[in-house]
Amino acid sequence: MNVRDSEHMIAELNAQEGYELTDNPREADLIMINTCSVREKPVHKLFSELGGFNKLKKEGAKIGVCGCTASHLGKEIIKRAPYVNFVLGARNVSKIGEVIHRDKAVEIDIDYDESQFAFKDFRTSAYKAYINISIGCDKQCTFCIVPKTRGDEISIPADLIVAEALKAAESGAKEVFLLGQNVNNYGRRFSGDHEKVNFTELLRRVSTVEGIERIRFTSPHPLHMDDEFIEEFARNPKICKSMHMPLQSGSSEILKAMKRGYSKEWFLNRAAKLRAMVPDVSISTDIIVAFPGESEEDFADTLDVMRQVRFEQIFSFKYSPRPLTEAEKMTNTVDSEIGSERLSRLQAYQDTILDEITAGYLGREFDVYFEELRSDGYVAGRTDNNIVIKVKGSEEWLGKIARVRITEVSRLVQYGEIVA
Ligand code: 5AD
Ligand code: SF4
Repeated sequence: MNVRDSEHMIAELNAQEGYELTDNPREADLIMINTCSVREKPVHKLFSELGGFNKLKKEGAKIGVCGCTASHLGKEIIKRAPYVNFVLGARNVSKIGEVIHRDKAVEIDIDYDESQFAFKDFRTSAYKAYINISIGCDKQCTFCIVPKTRGDEISIPADLIVAEALKAAESGAKEVFLLGQNVNNYGRRFSGDHEKVNFTELLRRVSTVEGIERIRFTSPHPLHMDDEFIEEFARNPKICKSMHMPLQSGSSEILKAMKRGYSKEWFLNRAAKLRAMVPDVSISTDIIVAFPGESEEDFADTLDVMRQVRFEQIFSFKYSPRPLTEAEKMTNTVDSEIGSERLSRLQAYQDTILDEITAGYLGREFDVYFEELRSDGYVAGRTDNNIVIKVKGSEEWLGKIARVRITEVSRLVQYGEIVA
C-alpha cells in the first residue's frame, strides 16, 4: 500500500509540479520518506534516516514525512526534527502538490477521503499495476494502529477500479494487484451513492478486462472468507492461486483478545477448503508471537496451525505495543526474551516445512510472468502461485509469460530453465 501511495504522490508531483525522480539524494530538490507505523522499529528508523538526509541534502532542498507515522506523530515530527518542511498523513497523500508550498504544513486528517478516488498515472512497474480498492480499516484488532492512522474503511467505486484495470491493460501490464487493508470486506461502505458490489463480484468484473491475465490482491481477512469467495477464487482462471491469510495467532483465546473475530477451528476450516478446492494454492500468513497473555500452550496452538496448514510463506513478528491501541493497555505482557525465543523457534520450524515444500518443486513446470531484470544475467518472475523463479536470460523475456522447469531450489528463490 505504501508503494501505491508513493506512486500516487510521484504522479501528483510530476503532473502538477514537473518533478522527476532521482536516485541521488544530494541532487534532490525534495526528499520524502513514506513511513509505516505498524511496529515500533520503523518509527525509530525514521528519525535516524531524517538526520542522515538533513546532512547530505543540497541547500534549500525540502524534506517531507508521509504515511502512517506522519498520521500518528503529526507535528511532533517537526518538533523533534525542525528541519522537516511538511508532514502528510497516509490518507492525505493527494494533497502533496499543495503541502510542498506551505512550510511546516501538517495534513493528517483521517476524515479526508474523496482525494483517493482521483487516480493519477504513475507505475513503478510496467508489468504490474497496483490498484487501491479501499482505504482505511473498520476492524479494531487490539494490536493494530492502522485504523487510527488510515481512518474508517471506504470502498472505491467498482467502475473506477475496472477503469484503472483497463488503463493498466492498455499500457501493457498483464497483472493487476488489488490493494486494501481488508479487501474481502469490499463494498460495505462507499462515500456516496454508488452501486453496491462485493469483493467476489469485483473480482469477476476485473477479470473481464481483456489483456489482464493475472489478478492478485492483499490483504483478505480470514473472517470474511465465505464459500462464495473461495469458490470464485478456485474457479476464475485469472485469479492467481496465492492467498494471504493473516493468522496472527493459532490460539482461539489469543484471537479473542486480539478481537480478530474467528477461532483456530474457523481458520483451519477455511485453509482446508482452499487446499481442497485449489490444487497447488500457496498460502502465506502473518503471525505475531508474545501478544499479552500468550502462554506456552497458546504458542503451541500457533505451531499446530503451521503444522496443519503448511504455509508457503510466513511473515512473523514479535508483538510490539503501539500507541492508541487497546492491547497497549494490557498488563499481562510476555517477557521480551520469551518473545524472542518463541519467534526463533517459530522461524526454525517454518524453515523445516519450507525445505520440504521447496524440495517438491524440483523438476516441476510452471508458467512464469517475467517482471524483473537481475544484474547477474538472470530475469526473475513469479508463478501464478507466487513462487519466485530466476532464469538465465535478458530483457527480451520481460513482460512475457513462459513455461519454466525448476532445476534448483532454495528457501527464497528457485532457479529454472525455459521449456516453452
Ligand atoms: N506488533 C507486532 N506485529 C504487528 N502487526 C500489526 N500490528 C503489530 C504489532 N503491534 C503485524 C500483523 C499484521 C502485519 C502487517 O503486521 O501481523 O498482519
Ligand atoms: Fe489492522 Fe486488523 Fe485492520 Fe488488519 S484488519 S489493518 S490488523 S485493524
